[in-house]
Amino acid sequence: LANDGYKLWMQYYPIENAESWQKEGIAKYQINATSPTLAIINDEIKRAGKGFFNFEPAENQENPKLIISKLSDLNLTTFQINKEKITALGEDGFSISKSENSETLILANTDIGLLYGTFYYLQLIQKGSEVPKEGIFQSPKIKHRVLNHWDNLDRTVERGYSGFSIWNWHRLPRHIDQQYLDYARANASIGINGTVLTNVNANSLVLTTEYLEKVKALADAFRPYGIKVYLTARFSSPIELGRLKTADPLNEVVQNWWKEKAKEVYDYIPDFGGFVVKADSEGQPGPHNYGRTQADGANMLADAVAPFGGIVMWRAFVYSENTPDDRHKQAYNEFKPIDGEFRNNVIVQVKNGAIDFQPREPFHPMFGAMPNTPLMMEFQITQEYLGHDTHLAFLAPMYEEVLKEDTFVNGKGREVAKIVDGSLDGHSLSAMAGVANIGTDRNWTGHHFHQANWYAYGKLAWNPYENSEKIADDWLRLTFNNDDTFITPVKEMMLESREMVVNYMTPLGLHHIMAESHHYGPGPWVTGGSRADWTSTYYHQASESGVGFDRTKSGSNALGQYSENLQSVWGNINSIPEKYLLWFHHVPWEHKLQNGENLWNNLALHYQKGVDEARANVKLWESMKGKIDQERFEHTLSFMKIQAEEAAWWRDACLLYFGQFSKMPLPSGVESPK
Ligand code: GCU
Repeated sequence: LANDGYKLWMQYYPIENAESWQKEGIAKYQINATSPTLAIINDEIKRAGKGFFNFEPAENQENPKLIISKLSDLNLTTFQINKEKITALGEDGFSISKSENSETLILANTDIGLLYGTFYYLQLIQKGSEVPKEGIFQSPKIKHRVLNHWDNLDRTVERGYSGFSIWNWHRLPRHIDQQYLDYARANASIGINGTVLTNVNANSLVLTTEYLEKVKALADAFRPYGIKVYLTARFSSPIELGRLKTADPLNEVVQNWWKEKAKEVYDYIPDFGGFVVKADSEGQPGPHNYGRTQADGANMLADAVAPFGGIVMWRAFVYSENTPDDRHKQAYNEFKPIDGEFRNNVIVQVKNGAIDFQPREPFHPMFGAMPNTPLMMEFQITQEYLGHDTHLAFLAPMYEEVLKEDTFVNGKGREVAKIVDGSLDGHSLSAMAGVANIGTDRNWTGHHFHQANWYAYGKLAWNPYENSEKIADDWLRLTFNNDDTFITPVKEMMLESREMVVNYMTPLGLHHIMAESHHYGPGPWVTGGSRADWTSTYYHQASESGVGFDRTKSGSNALGQYSENLQSVWGNINSIPEKYLLWFHHVPWEHKLQNGENLWNNLALHYQKGVDEARANVKLWESMKGKIDQERFEHTLSFMKIQAEEAAWWRDACLLYFGQFSKMPLPSGVESPK
């Protein structure tokens, strides 16, 4: 049977030392109590057992070696358990430990905690790792760990490169496809507990009775996996569905319309998560249409879902071509003055950077600027600006870079992760969103290695302090094998891959120079068009005097939105980390960088480096032949060849384009464009 990658990181391939694991592991197990979630655990153990050992583990036998139990169902006279420690793990946490009789105990406070613990344990077995003596105690640092699907009701996916939407609205609600359940399993296995089914560019139709029945069917299917369903709400729905004349958030009739709508939604889905809203952005309606603030809009929806325990994730991605300011500054300027004006069931959803999911962006200056409002992180998993489906880019290092960045707001140690998990400002509402890269492709994500980005997102949403190296290592072992001659080089390739993409696309702080509208391939020449802030020349500002966007005091002063500390380090052309140089500065071509070479030479060398790396990856991958199954090997190889060709396309296009301004020759070692 071909390995088409459908099983993601839940391959459950045969393990080494199967005999010892059979005794210790999952061969005989006991699950205290029954419930739909516990039935899923049961199935998963059997499925894994078949894969690992080629036999079916048996449940509820005498002398079980594995006991899975909520704390409340455990006989505490038999086991010495630190009750407080388990209780402190909260709703989603779990522990895995050994009893005095060397049974493995998976304990939690809820069924969902047990599901997470079971997946974790199965992953340990697959990796050949042991439960450490001191045990494992895990609980998520972030409360709402959600995927955002930019899926339309006609099944196209905005910025989706892996086929069509997996939501088959036509067959819903009567048909629940196995793929939905596998999707839920995959998410639960990495701790994702929410899914926003619909595109942020929302269609109000999803709030009609016909669609709510379908949404309910999905919510029912996902519930035992601990996954809540959310929808995007189109701000003008009261007009489109309710035939009202206005959607003004301060209008009582409008407010009541939303209250009624929320009640209807909760009648179908009692544990509905809430609404995600994109307002006043890229043509979407919003409170601006009525001269109201983002808080007015968010609070209206928050009041509608509050009686049912729902939340509103209000996006900060608000910008307009009519605002003369640098696009970089607009969200901050709009939101900072209303810090603290949001209801306590609103969380503001902020993209990792101020522009738009570029291969590299400095962290969004809103992080740190709004201590009185919970802010959530929005990452993009789908690769809108990183080569779509065919370019390998392991994104964990990109996420990690932003999460670990110190904002220096009111001192040191104010990392973005601490703002997102709520710990810095004492917010109990915390969330992370990842724009999904999932579609109907057999392997879910187009590129096999892009499965790793879904996985990495889940792991970082659970623990934003996790490191990329561990995530890559685990993912490879779960997805392919435990052969270090494969894992070590391929892991290194993954860890370098995002930087490689930065090198051949947007080195040294360049950004948004992709082709117009679809954003695939180079387009530094894009100019004119429908809006200035959708052109490349707006962002790179290349001329004979130099290249880069001056965001210091002499320019737009977007830098002024960051802490004093960062203003002084990043504001100086000689002390700013070079990776952000052209993001904040307009730099003369002949300016010397740290390596003593001028800017032009550095730019050219970065582009060449990216190409060299992409080509080296093809060679490296070819040398892995035979170490994994033929199907995934060939598929990946053909994508990597495309990437290497297109890296050269990027280099040639950008160097030819920028060379018109620098008018300098290419440094040695850089191939002449063809
Ligand atoms: C980007 C993307 C759009 C998307 C938007 C958003 O601009 O190109 O397709 O709708 O982000 O996040 O709202």
